Parts: sequence; structure tokens; C-alpha cells
Amino acid sequence: PDEIVVSELASRLKVTAADVIKKLFSLGVMVTINQSVDYDTACIVAEEFGAKVTKEVVVSIEERLFEEVEDTEENLQPRSPVVVVMGHVDHGKTSLLDRIRHANVTSGEAGGITQHIGAYRVKAGGRDITFLDTPGHEAFTAMRARGALATDIAILVVAADDGIMPQTVEAINHAKAANLSIIVAINKMDKPTANPDKVKQELTEHGLVCEEWGGDVICVPVSAKTGEGIDELLEMVNLTADVLELKANPDRLAKGVVIEARIDKGRGPIATVLVQSGTLHTGDTIIAGTAVGRVRVMRDDKGKAVKEAGPSVPVEIMGLAEVPSAGDDFAAVEDEKLARELVEKRKFDAKEEQFKLYKKVSLDNLFSQI
Ligand code: GTP
Ligand code: MG
Repeated sequence: PDEIVVSELASRLKVTAADVIKKLFSLGVMVTINQSVDYDTACIVAEEFGAKVTKEVVVSIEERLFEEVEDTEENLQPRSPVVVVMGHVDHGKTSLLDRIRHANVTSGEAGGITQHIGAYRVKAGGRDITFLDTPGHEAFTAMRARGALATDIAILVVAADDGIMPQTVEAINHAKAANLSIIVAINKMDKPTANPDKVKQELTEHGLVCEEWGGDVICVPVSAKTGEGIDELLEMVNLTADVLELKANPDRLAKGVVIEARIDKGRGPIATVLVQSGTLHTGDTIIAGTAVGRVRVMRDDKGKAVKEAGPSVPVEIMGLAEVPSAGDDFAAVEDEKLARELVEKRKFDAKEEQFKLYKKVSLDNLFSQI
């Protein structure tokens, strides 16, 4: 933050306000307990009391704000898998998901290109699976990288008539970097030009060897158009999830990641978040990146209002004061005031970072001109 109230500074330094006021007085700054001093002055005072400011203030806010709960045998419960669907543009990611959830999103999307990461929950084999759709267009590479972080399994969609393309390779790299289990869906098998063996051959060149060729990668031939292979694909997702033994503690303040966020003219900022541990409730105060707010309304992926969302559940939330960024972490907190302080701090740090960058760039320019 740009400034800090004397009483707050004193409590963070674990000294009395009187001590701080005295110290300030000796520095020529006259303030009362409820007045603020600027950041630089606070730093000088803190150093006088033997504290290293910047870091310790940040750490102490975060330590005070976020609930730290250790995962133990007792508090961990099984959770459903989070599956990200990745692949080259037009290879059929959205169509495949449509097939899986019997809906039709493709026709409603602008130009048929997925603009955001959609999050859906699907029942298969008696259990829930959370799916994230990621855009395949090159311009969305950064978003896709974020999408992969919050997930357990990647379905790599490869069109059987097209084979491995540049963004397929990117997707493979993202999945590997995020340590995801990869299942390959060889799509568009209904096409006369489909050549699954060619796809498998190309996959081996990128270190993915299919099971029937002696490797450990599950490859399922599918068609989003006819529905061929979809049940088997879901079965493979469930099998893979079983091996991973996914667990989370539902009985703590919620933590997770922002999947997408936008501003709605009538309703204000709306964010789709994926809960990773804990349970999110309506009325909870949350902090997401530099946005704070109380969850007013929460909707599931079918648009139905819900009161709580546990691990692996994606929900759309309203109530944040600003729009967070896709990929931001979010956490429910008890102390709203402290959350606001942390947000101010984060904004301040971001500004400072930007300023440093600006200074660096302009200095570089300066030298290059000499
Ligand atoms: P982006 O989100 O833009 O990256 O594309 P996407 O991977 O989500 O592909 P999408 O589902 O939008 O499908 C692209 C085109 O392929 C559409 O015209 C689909 O109708 C077609 N398509 C998808 N799956 C199949 C399939 O199994 N068979 C056939 N014949 N066409 C398919
Ligand atoms: Mg799509």
C-alpha cells in the first residue's frame, strides 16, 4: 500500500503505537495514532526497530490471512478428476465435449472458435468428471498454459485425418510440463481419410507411444460426430483417475484457481473458478489476484444457483469488486480487511514492477542511443 496507519504499523512491528510515534517524532514526523505515514517512512521506522520491511510485511499479511491446514489421512477425501481437453485448432475439442455432455456449444460460439476455457461437470460410470475446454487457436497459448495447471489429466485431441500439428505439439509440451496423465483421443474416425496409424506413428516422434505399440499411452479412436468410442474414452478417464487416487480436504476454507473472468454489464464482475481444496460457500469473502469480494451468487455449470462447491467443482461466482485474471489463484478468507490490505499491497508491487520494467526499458533505449 502507499501508506499505513500508525497503529497498524505498530502492531505489525509488535511494538506500542507510542514507540512508533516517538520514533517518528525523532525523525521529524508528527502524527497521531490514527494517522497514516507513507511507505518509505514506514520502512525507515521498521528498520529502526530491526525489521526488514518489504518482505516481512508481505509474508506477515499472507500468513495472517490464509488458513494453513495440513493434509492428513483423516481430512483428505476422494475428489473427482479434472480433465483438460487440448489439441490443435479444429481437431474437435469442443465437439467432443459436446458429445460427452449431450449439449451443443459449438454452434453458439463466435466463428466456432472457443474464446474461453469452459468448465463442465459430467457424470460417467457413476462418478463426476470435471472437464475444461481450452481454445486451440494460437493466440490463446498463454491461456492454455494456465488451463493445464489446475488439472490432473489431459485429453489430447488429434484429428485422424490431419495428424500431429504445431498446436498438438504445444499441447503435449504443456501437458508434460504440468505432469499430467495424457490420454489421446484420435478424433474424426468417421472420415474416410482417417488414418489412426499415422497419428500413432507421429505421436511416437514426440515421446508418446500407444499401449498397443508397447508404450504406456492410452489411445482411443473416437468420433465426436457419430459418438463412436466416447464411452471407452470416459472409461479410460475413470481408470486413469483411479490410479491417481485424487484427494482433497473439503473441510477448510476454499482454495483454487480462476478459469475465466469477465464483466457483465448488469451483474458486474463474473468469474468462473475451480475449487481445488476446501468448500466455497455463498457469503464467503474471497481474494483472487487483486480482486476482493463476498460471494453473492454462485452458479454451477448448468446455470443452477448453488450454495456451496467442494473440491474439483467449477462454479461461476458474482460479488468480486473487480475482474480477476484467468489463471489467478483464489482463496476464501476470514479477515476481509486484511484481504483488502493484501490486494493494495499486490497492486503496489505490480505497479513497482511495471515501473522497474519501464525504467529498464528506457535506460536500455538511452544506452543504445549513445
Ligand atoms: P477450436 O476450439 O477452434 O480450437 O476447435 P475445436 O478443436 O474445439 O474443434 P470443433 O469442435 O469446433 O470442431 C471443428 C470442426 O470439426 C467442426 O466443423 C466440427 O463439426 C468438426 N468435427 C469435430 N469432430 C468431428 C468428427 O468426429 N467427425 C467429423 N467428421 N467432423 C468433426
Ligand atoms: Mg473449441
